[in-house]
Amino acid sequence: MEFKRVLLKLSGEALMGDKQFGIDNARLAQYAEEIKKIYDKRVEIAIVIGGGNIFRGVQAEEGGMDRTQGDYMGMLATMINSMALQGALESKGMQTRLQSAIEMKEIAEPFIKRKAVRHLEKGRIVIFGAGTGNPYFTTDSAGALRAIEIEADAILKGTRVDGIYTADPEKDPTATKFDHLTFDEAYEKNLNVMDMTAFTLCKENDLPIIVFDMNKSGNLDKVIQGEKIGTLVSNSK
Ligand code: GTP
Repeated sequence: MEFKRVLLKLSGEALMGDKQFGIDNARLAQYAEEIKKIYDKRVEIAIVIGGGNIFRGVQAEEGGMDRTQGDYMGMLATMINSMALQGALESKGMQTRLQSAIEMKEIAEPFIKRKAVRHLEKGRIVIFGAGTGNPYFTTDSAGALRAIEIEADAILKGTRVDGIYTADPEKDPTATKFDHLTFDEAYEKNLNVMDMTAFTLCKENDLPIIVFDMNKSGNLDKVIQGEKIGTLVSNSK
């Protein structure tokens, strides 16, 4: 698989590093370094980052708050992470643009697909903040949606495990990793690749997902070079 344009999905929680909350500057800088390796190869990069290190919608619901309210708070949390990431990327000399699904024009451009594509063509990293701008959608869904809109070759889901396993490898030592799965296989085996909305968007629009360990230096670059690390989920066998 050749990657000209990718959407990198990062989890907000990963930004915590070893901290209990918020953003770990060392982790942020490390991610920027990893991204620079593929930026320097002129890969067109779009990024969606979650907000779980700051706020989670479900947390609000548990506290008795309206789900919608909590989801909007979560969207704002993704903007904080997006701005932090933008700052980190720019401090290493990368050109970036931040687009928000919720209008906040003093700090970000509004999401405009055509403008996003133009930025990518000019070699700028485009970060999409505020999820899809709608409650009841995760940032995985936002990642899938934006990846389809900008016609990315794949969505690269950077996690802290190195792929999809038969069971949770952090709990079950006998779990084994899949190198490749079709969407149908992942569904039949009830494997938790992404939430169903995101998963279905990818399947129906033929967008491959690669799940890989983003915390290991060099991995993102390896994925781009076509090395078979992580797990590929696609329609074709
Ligand atoms: P090209 O014209 O294609 O080269 O793109 P450009 O992004 O360089 O041009 P533009 O004039 O659109 O933007 C210049 C700068 O202003 C960039 O840093 C944009 O991110 C920023 N910018 C553009 N629109 C907005 C906006 O609505 N809000 C905010 N906060 N910044 C914006």
